[in-house]
Amino acid sequence: MIIDPADLDRREANGLINGLVTPRPIAWISSLAPDGARNLAPFSFFGAFSFDPPIIGVGPGSRRAVNKDSLRNIKATGEFVVNLVDRSLAERANASSAEFEPDVDEWLVAGVTPAVSDSVAPPRVQESPASLECRVSQIIELGTAAQPSNNLVVAWVVRVHVADAALDGLAPRPEVLDLVGRLGGDEWCTTRDRFTLPRPTGRDPSALATPSRSSHRIGLPR
Ligand SMILES: Cc1cc2nc3c(=O)[nH]c(=O)nc-3n(C[C@H](O)[C@H](O)[C@H](O)COP(=O)(O)O)c2cc1C
Repeated sequence: MIIDPADLDRREANGLINGLVTPRPIAWISSLAPDGARNLAPFSFFGAFSFDPPIIGVGPGSRRAVNKDSLRNIKATGEFVVNLVDRSLAERANASSAEFEPDVDEWLVAGVTPAVSDSVAPPRVQESPASLECRVSQIIELGTAAQPSNNLVVAWVVRVHVADAALDGLAPRPEVLDLVGRLGGDEWCTTRDRFTLPRPTGRDPSALATPSRSSHRIGLPR
């Protein structure tokens, strides 16, 4: 089947793109309004685009043509924190995605603890296995005035927090981080089923890399 996305309505396009571009990591974004009101919400239009300089991108949208609070705060202050979500935090991150009245504090809904950030004003989630303090580089409007859509927020990572146990030297340990991702619809996934493929050297183009012995599956109750 070949699909022209222009033929799809918003719901269909959402289901198709979100169900195909998977798994997506989750940025649980902490931001502050100019008056200091704190905000916390998850976003899976999220990725890393460069490590030198360290740059991430995130795609918060609008609802009913009004910017979501996170986007409004990021535009106004230029700062936010991406908190990474492990399996133990998935339900709490999800709970914070509901459309609340502006006076509801999502930190209380999620039941997580604000910890002081090192170089930006928004707090980070203390329970997250890792958090990235971010400063905006540029914001690209992906919609039009007639049809507002997501914005692509491109940001420098100015500080990285990682739980000591999740690091082997400076190498993150995926089995300790236990991060989750988003699939289509309401489906999520863990990072517990991993395999290793050594990078090809280019010296033997016909050699097909085979999974190494370190491939494994961690059995967990479903
Ligand atoms: C796992 C997950 C991922 C999400 N990803 C996005 C996203 O990438 N972009 C977006 O606009 N909304 C996304 N949402 C919805 C927002 O979290 C939701 O609209 C939230 O209420 C926005 O909060 P805010 O208005 O406080 O910024 C996602 C929700 C969940 C549960």
